[in-house]
Amino acid sequence: MRYVQYCKYAGLIVVLFGFQNSSAQKKTIDQKVDSVLNLMTLEEKAGQLNQYSGDWSFTGPVTKDNTKIQQVKEGKLGSMLNVVGVEKTRLLQQYAMQSRLKIPLLFGQDVIHGFRTTFPLPLAEAASWDLEAIQLSARISAIETSAAGVHWTFAPMVDISRDPRWGRVMEGAGEDTYLGSLIAAARVKGFQGKGLGNTDVVMACAKHFAAYGAAVGGRDYNSVDMSPRMLWETYLPPFFAAKEAGAATFMNSFNDLNGIPATGNRYLQRDILKGKWNFNGFVVSDWASIGEMIAHGFAKDTSHAAQLGLSAGSDMDMESRSYIKHLPQLVREGKVKIEWLDDAVRRILRKKFELGLFDDPFKFSNEHRQQQQWNNPQHIAAAREMAKKSIVLLKNHPLPGEVGVGTLPLTNNQKVALIGPFVKAVKDNLGFWSMEWEDDSARIVPLWKGMLNKVDPANLLYAKGCNINDADTSGFAEAIETAKQSDVVVITIGEARDMSGEAKSRSSLQLPGVQNQLIAAIAATGKPIVLLIHAGRPLIFDKAASHASAILYTWWLGTEAGNAIADVLYGDYNPSGKLPITFPRTEGQIPIYYNHYSTGRPAEDEFQNNYVSAYIDLPNSPAYPFGYGLSYTSFVFTDFKLSSTSLKGNQTLTASITLTNTGRVKGKETVQLYIRDLVGKVVRPVKELKGFKQVELNPGESKVITFTITTNDLRFYDDQLIYNWEPGEFEIMIGSNSKEVQVKKINWSR
Ligand code: NOJ
Repeated sequence: MRYVQYCKYAGLIVVLFGFQNSSAQKKTIDQKVDSVLNLMTLEEKAGQLNQYSGDWSFTGPVTKDNTKIQQVKEGKLGSMLNVVGVEKTRLLQQYAMQSRLKIPLLFGQDVIHGFRTTFPLPLAEAASWDLEAIQLSARISAIETSAAGVHWTFAPMVDISRDPRWGRVMEGAGEDTYLGSLIAAARVKGFQGKGLGNTDVVMACAKHFAAYGAAVGGRDYNSVDMSPRMLWETYLPPFFAAKEAGAATFMNSFNDLNGIPATGNRYLQRDILKGKWNFNGFVVSDWASIGEMIAHGFAKDTSHAAQLGLSAGSDMDMESRSYIKHLPQLVREGKVKIEWLDDAVRRILRKKFELGLFDDPFKFSNEHRQQQQWNNPQHIAAAREMAKKSIVLLKNHPLPGEVGVGTLPLTNNQKVALIGPFVKAVKDNLGFWSMEWEDDSARIVPLWKGMLNKVDPANLLYAKGCNINDADTSGFAEAIETAKQSDVVVITIGEARDMSGEAKSRSSLQLPGVQNQLIAAIAATGKPIVLLIHAGRPLIFDKAASHASAILYTWWLGTEAGNAIADVLYGDYNPSGKLPITFPRTEGQIPIYYNHYSTGRPAEDEFQNNYVSAYIDLPNSPAYPFGYGLSYTSFVFTDFKLSSTSLKGNQTLTASITLTNTGRVKGKETVQLYIRDLVGKVVRPVKELKGFKQVELNPGESKVITFTITTNDLRFYDDQLIYNWEPGEFEIMIGSNSKEVQVKKINWSR
């Protein structure tokens, strides 16, 4: 039956093999791929490597072109992005079925944190440290996306970044390689579910390969210059994890890496990804990045760019039009090997076969399924759960006169003044890289609505106070009066939704506009202040923080933002988020990250010292360290024990610690394990995350948390890029964040 359909649509004659096992199936697909390839002209092959944006929306610089449909009919297009919905995908697929070989189109889309249901920003989700929840978020995105005719998401972004000036930190999992690798795998598994071929999955795309997150100065698209050791140890592992989890595709990146644009980088794409890692999916360029090699000063013209891009292993050309224009001729002239063109086409066709598009090109364009997934209450509920888990409590001082009780959670009988530009903001809650739908305003839950859903409206007051980013202070007086009538003031501040994201680098991470002044003016009323900070990156908010009794970092939380924040404000959910990225005190500390080297002159304390590695005007420590996040309850760590302090060879070390909930409410702690290699052939970071466990405890309850450590956890890349461990002394650290840890020393010999 399968095959009848295939013949019907593709009109090709292929030998049919059995489907006894997966290798037989793979062989069958490879045979089918070859049978299609054998029929293709050079132009049709170049066509499969060509991807255009649809005209409904754009996510990059637009090239005007009203011949797109004609090109689809002529088989000059293998894929489209920015085309969503059953109707549109069906229509375009019908055009593709008019081409000579009837090869189906692939539809790709940036589904970064949700499709119909918007989940928190990826960076916010990373703050949950909850891999299952993150996987579920990707799963739901895939279910909704695939029901709308789309086969492929350009996610997850797995770029490590230590620079919050870079607007795209919002899109990744933060600064840590270990956490980032686990999240990369979770997201790939979520998107790809039970595997390509099922109608509720989309192909994942690990991006941006590679090192894009290390752009100089945090300026988007900028160059990257880094040692091979840093590349292998810090920036590549999340990509490897994504590949191991089965990511069907990779996207390369805009930056040059040590002088070679990633798009034209053979070492990255052919030697590492397709060679050493044996990746059998395909690589798509980033938007126009093949043509942009001209501006880089790496290619002379578009023909040269096409030659360099394909030779380096970029299989699909997103929007630069260089491949379709030049590849046939380049092959004829012998400038591009036909084997490489064929290899790229094969990789793309293979995915089309695996998705089942040759069986039925309209398989994903099913109106009924689209309807079914359009307003799925379970997805909304999952988005609320994820949003709650993403919120990070940064401060919770007691109210004046109270001891041991934080300002938060609020109680139902308090009169609460909600002030700030985001209280009633609707679409901002979606953050950057979100899909937008006509009925969004009714679906998204702003803070105001979330509060109304939770408490007696008679206890809620509102004043906007100011806008996000202008100098208008005319709303201050009303805000001050409103604050005066309340028991506690909740102020929403932050950066606008579109101030982080692609091409959204900021040189200043301060609160824009007059938000600081508004907070100072409200603080003068003497009312306790709770800050809710909305942003796609770590901001610098020391002035605002000094006026606040409590601070929740609320990022952009998606469709259910208001409900989730209200849940946390009133203690229906006890905050459990932990920062996945270091928050600097000032921009001058950037790049700042917890797993730095020691230097030969480490600063011993927070105060300036002569002739040590320090600033004369600032402590070295950040505003909030990696892994930091409070709870409404308190936890105490006792009884840190190691199974041995002297280990040999392949022995296993067990580290355990007792965690006790010493507070008054149930809460979740993320217990973090760090290791330091004290002396190495190359210098080693002062600590590296090597494990974590999330534990939920009732008041008074204790639990022993155990980590198992092997020599695998001690491995690193040396100066010859050999990945191994060295005998010697190590520090084993366990604690509640990267700063507050208990330490024990061990010796591990060969
Ligand atoms: C450019 C971005 O860098 C990339 O992440 C995205 O997938 C493409 N545009 C397509 O929108």
